[in-house]
Amino acid sequence: MKHLTIKDLFRNTSEYANKTVTLEGWVKTVRDSKTFGFIELNDGSFFKNVQIVFTDKLANFDELVKLTICSTIKVTGTLIITENAKQPFEIQADEVIIESLSPADYPLQKKRHSFEYLRTIAHLRPRTNTFNAVFRIRSVAAFAIHEYFQSNGYVYVNTPIITCADCEGSAEMFKLTTLNTDTPLPTNEDGTTNYSEDLFGKKAFITGSGQLHGETYAQAFGKIYTFGPTLRSENSNTKTHANEFWMIEPEISFCDLNGLMDVEEDCLKYIVKAVLERCPEEMEFCDKFIENGLIEKLTKLINSDFVRIDHKDVIDILKKADRQWEFQPDYGEDLAKEHEKYITEYFNGPVFVKNWPKDIKSYYMKVNPDGKTVAAVDLEVPGAGEIMGGSQREEDYDKLVSRMKEMGIETDPLYWYLDLRKYGTDIHSGFGLGFERLLMYITGIENIRDVIPFPRTPNNCDF
Ligand code: 4AD
Ligand code: MG
Repeated sequence: MKHLTIKDLFRNTSEYANKTVTLEGWVKTVRDSKTFGFIELNDGSFFKNVQIVFTDKLANFDELVKLTICSTIKVTGTLIITENAKQPFEIQADEVIIESLSPADYPLQKKRHSFEYLRTIAHLRPRTNTFNAVFRIRSVAAFAIHEYFQSNGYVYVNTPIITCADCEGSAEMFKLTTLNTDTPLPTNEDGTTNYSEDLFGKKAFITGSGQLHGETYAQAFGKIYTFGPTLRSENSNTKTHANEFWMIEPEISFCDLNGLMDVEEDCLKYIVKAVLERCPEEMEFCDKFIENGLIEKLTKLINSDFVRIDHKDVIDILKKADRQWEFQPDYGEDLAKEHEKYITEYFNGPVFVKNWPKDIKSYYMKVNPDGKTVAAVDLEVPGAGEIMGGSQREEDYDKLVSRMKEMGIETDPLYWYLDLRKYGTDIHSGFGLGFERLLMYITGIENIRDVIPFPRTPNNCDF
């Protein structure tokens, strides 16, 4: 028989009215008067708790009033519709079996705990309302992402985690070795480490992007996407950087920068809409306790056209702004956090910043006819900052080789990537969506550490 869940009861209440039901779950709170009491019970299936009413007619009444938070119980009782009460129904208990009694030192007592404290108990924090909401949203959003790409004809590709290919800069990749690092490493004549003795016979890394491999499959399937873990060794201690995060990387043949922005916008709206529809209780909670106005912000996003603006025009706006900058905005430079914040507030919503100065962007991006900018686009949102980064790719063999040489990227190891420009090259584009940054935007959570179950950030690899 299917195990009955609290979600079943909330979603199909009338079906269970006046019937006997059995539930197993964890005690959230207990209150009692002399002859009766209430237990708020949760079994993890649903955001809301179910109210159990018990009376002194139960043989273990004295034990029940002393139940501690997080104790495990099994309840059998009748579901009664409670029309004018806060909750739509309650269970009048015929039997409550105590399966395990939690000690009184349970770290999550009924009060609001700080995010900082909760990070120190990452193994328990999913039991709090906030984390319960965030991580169900994470799961629902992941499914919606697959759904979006699958239903639009994209093929899901699993690009390698172990790689020797340099996409976003080898300096940011974790090295992977089986050499015994506790003893002196084998060296070449010039003193550098001799990786020919290593497992792969050469220096290997953990991937910082699946893009290059993704491009190979896009030339076979037309449209592909990846969705997997991404690791970067950057020592950035910010609210939006983690050393291990998840990224979605679609790659689309026969698509230029404008087509790419259309996909990005459509995709983001689809995910947001799916979460709003499928997680109403969780989103209502986030709106009330994490970011006031969240649902309104997201509803507006679904119904608006995103601003598309050139990097140089953003710099113009920033330079004209009546305020002091910590970092001066400059035509040849990246946008600082304060600039991202200003520009998203200026337009009051997501902003595509496109056509970036080529010197601060990657070698594979298509250089524009002006020779100074590349056909790259970042989607900036209030709070999470850059949630998507993408570009039209350089599809011309000679131009790509000369860009790689200019930027000091070795061409030999990437011969297979260059082959794509020889055999059936096409105008194509792709982007990377940072899954955690997306979740920050959707939930209103301010720190990336609170949308990853066990975050890995500089000086923190606990749990
Ligand atoms: O802008 P990035 O570095 O772009 C790429 O990796 C391209 N290869 C993507 C592509 O065109 N296929 O990273 C893409 C996104 C960023 O916009 C950001 O949302 C997220 O990945 N991201 C991070 N998220 C959390 N922590 C970090 N350290 C991140 N670095 C990038
Ligand atoms: Mg980027």
